[in-house]
Amino acid sequence: MGGHLPDPAGAVDVDPARIEKMFMLLTATMLAAFLGALGYASWGMGMHLPGRAGEVATAAVRSTPPFDEPGVYEIAPGEYDVVVLGHAWAFEPREIRVPVGARVRFRATSADVIHGFHIEATRVNAMLIPGQVTEVVYTFDAPGEHLVICHEYCGVGHQLMSGKVIVE
Ligand code: CUA
Repeated sequence: MGGHLPDPAGAVDVDPARIEKMFMLLTATMLAAFLGALGYASWGMGMHLPGRAGEVATAAVRSTPPFDEPGVYEIAPGEYDVVVLGHAWAFEPREIRVPVGARVRFRATSADVIHGFHIEATRVNAMLIPGQVTEVVYTFDAPGEHLVICHEYCGVGHQLMSGKVIVE
C-alpha cells in the first residue's frame, strides 16, 4: 500500500534548471520588450520629457528676454513659440491661441516658486522651476479648448492658477 503513494518528486517532474532557464528567458524577453517600447516612444512617436533648455535669473526674469514679453510668437510658417511665465497665482499669457497642426514650442519658467504646467488632454505636463527654462514641443491635432492648470502646490491661490489654450 505504502509503495503506491504518489512520489512527491515524481508528481512534479520538472528539471529545476529548465525552470530557471525559462525564467531567465522570460526576464530577457520582458526587458527587450520594455526597452523596445521605450525606444519606439522616443524615436518612433517623438515622446520626450520636458527638457531643461536653459537658465534665467529669477530676480530679473521680467526684464530678461523672452520672459519680459510672455506671449505667442509665430517664428516660421506653422511654427510657434509660446513664452509662458508662471507666478503666484497665474500664467502669463492667461490665454494662448495657436492654430491646429502647428508645431508649438512652449518655453516657460517661474517668477517665484515652483509651479506646474499641465495642458489638459495632452501630454504637455511640465514643471516651471525658478531659474530654469522648461521647453516642451507639442502639436495640437484638433481644434478646441484646453484648460491649463498648475499641478504643483504653490500657496493659498494654487487652485485658482489656471489658463487656457485655444486651438483654432
Ligand atoms: Cu502654481 Cu500651484
